[in-house]
Amino acid sequence: MSKNQLNKFYAELDEVHADDIASAPGRTAKKRQSRRAEMDARLFIRAQEAAGEFKFTYKAARFEEAWLLDSLEEIAGQQLISDVLRKVKAGKEASVYLCRSGASIEARLLAAKVYRPRTLRNLKNDALYRTGRIDLGEDGSALFREADVNAIIKRTKYGEELRHTSWIAYEFTTLEKLYAAGADVPKPYAMLKNSILMEYIGDDGMPAPTLNSVTLDRDEAHELFDRVVLNLNLLLQNERIHGDLSAYNILYWDGGITLIDFPQVVSPESNPMAWTLFQRDVTRVCQYFQAQGVKVNAGKLAAELWTSHGHKIIKEVHPSDLDAENLQDRKIWEKQQKG
Ligand SMILES: Nc1ncnc2c1ncn2[C@@H]1O[C@H](COP(=O)(O)OP(=O)(O)OP(=O)(O)O)[C@@H](O)[C@H]1O
Ligand SMILES: [Mg+2]
Repeated sequence: MSKNQLNKFYAELDEVHADDIASAPGRTAKKRQSRRAEMDARLFIRAQEAAGEFKFTYKAARFEEAWLLDSLEEIAGQQLISDVLRKVKAGKEASVYLCRSGASIEARLLAAKVYRPRTLRNLKNDALYRTGRIDLGEDGSALFREADVNAIIKRTKYGEELRHTSWIAYEFTTLEKLYAAGADVPKPYAMLKNSILMEYIGDDGMPAPTLNSVTLDRDEAHELFDRVVLNLNLLLQNERIHGDLSAYNILYWDGGITLIDFPQVVSPESNPMAWTLFQRDVTRVCQYFQAQGVKVNAGKLAAELWTSHGHKIIKEVHPSDLDAENLQDRKIWEKQQKG
């Protein structure tokens, strides 16, 4: 793959700036460039091989198509989807596509959230969220093999892939857990490779808008706010803090809400930033509802919810106080737990 082709590939994967990648820590720019090129060239070749088997309606640009084929071929092979109809939205770390379901799923339409290749993801500060989390494998179970743990700690190429998978697996297993608990989240169907297949919120004509773009009348605002609080309770009951909750990650459809975008969830028990992150989630959500006429004291609500689930309010920790690079290593974390 030529340099030109690669650049085109990156451009087509939307909003990916060379600067984001160039600023990744710990490697020289040249090394990073060549690793990136090597990985994406391989991805492109694999995808071209797959192209013969799965064709879809959505007219993707050439490189985006290669990436989609590589990501979704397995899903199509299992008859989970039969077609990709259109791109719903390109987020910061993934793009979401509207798909027609395959024979093995009863819903007619599905949403496929396809994560960008690891090297192209515009990462949230993942060290902050990974602290206190046990890494998960592609089947959603905890990774305990010594070789895997070491690869993650040493940040080998294989270890980086494991981290990427674990990030996505957190989103999928959280959806499973919350859906089973009756929370307002899309029904999850499958996690394969770097994508998640879930219930599509919206209809043929348009996807559900995010709540931030919706103006509610006062009654509906109160009703939906109560619903959000119910979901915050369900999250805490299931030992999860969303970590990036706001009206931008809540969909509005048919008078109801759906919470989305969970890869960064943290544990209220084992993440030292848990209380801070929880307050931020509650505050952001309250800001939206306050603007819609709901009178609520965000700080008080956060404290009530937090303590009612048995958590203690601790002195606020700021991300800069945390030695994130160290804390993110599970071994170190576990030692700290024992000590
Ligand atoms: N199940 C779904 N049904 C319909 N639309 C969806 C669904 N899931 C996600 N979307 C749309 O795709 C967008 C991106 O999804 P999501 O927030 O999960 O990805 P992201 O890459 O983390 O985005 P960002 O970083 O911008 O928050 C959402 O804002 C929403 O508009
Ligand atoms: Mg989002």
